[in-house]
Amino acid sequence: MGRGRFIAFEGGEGCGKSTQARLLAERLGAVLTREPGGTAIGARVRDIVLAADDNGLVDRAEALLMAADRAQHVAEVVEPALAAGRDVVTDRYLGSSVAYQGYGRGLPVDEVRNLSLWATHGLQPDVVVLLVVDPAEARARIGGARDRLEKAGDDFHSLVADGFGSLAAADPQRWVIVDGGGTVAEVEARVRDVVAARLP
Ligand code: TYD
Repeated sequence: MGRGRFIAFEGGEGCGKSTQARLLAERLGAVLTREPGGTAIGARVRDIVLAADDNGLVDRAEALLMAADRAQHVAEVVEPALAAGRDVVTDRYLGSSVAYQGYGRGLPVDEVRNLSLWATHGLQPDVVVLLVVDPAEARARIGGARDRLEKAGDDFHSLVADGFGSLAAADPQRWVIVDGGGTVAEVEARVRDVVAARLP
């Protein structure tokens, strides 16, 4: 039995990634997981990094906690599943750290990337689906309750969006941009086509 395939969904708040990750995982019969919080230890990290209010967490500690969550997630969930021949679909991965902690918080992008590569023994997805939606539409989808990152402000989120765009442009073999506008079924059809084209 061969190794499973590893697919990551990335994008800003309210882009519809979580729904599309679930639908793709169901269709492929893949393991569905997410970051931060894909493990019991990760759930505790998530409580700190996604606290509802400002908890005094400094940017470098935020970056280290995201990388720690990822190390645990890869070791405990992702790598064992891939090794057992299961496909894995994750709702966010390394690109989120580069976009949010690197481009968004302004930490050195290469350092943030290298931190996660160290955390994961260099494991990279076979395909990264970047869902892009209009900021006004995304805001409408997020709705009421917001965590500290969702509250970080429009300037921060536009830096994050630009960061994701740069990541996709720099690595077009791995990254594919999908228009996240329209109905769930419309986006699902687009995702299905691009993933089928990239994963034989
Ligand atoms: P989450 O509640 O999972 O929802 P969504 O992905 O739908 O926005 O939020 C995860 C948050 O954590 C999101 O604001 C992005 C942020 N994040 C980082 O800043 N860095 C990371 O490495 C990861 C994985 C997530």
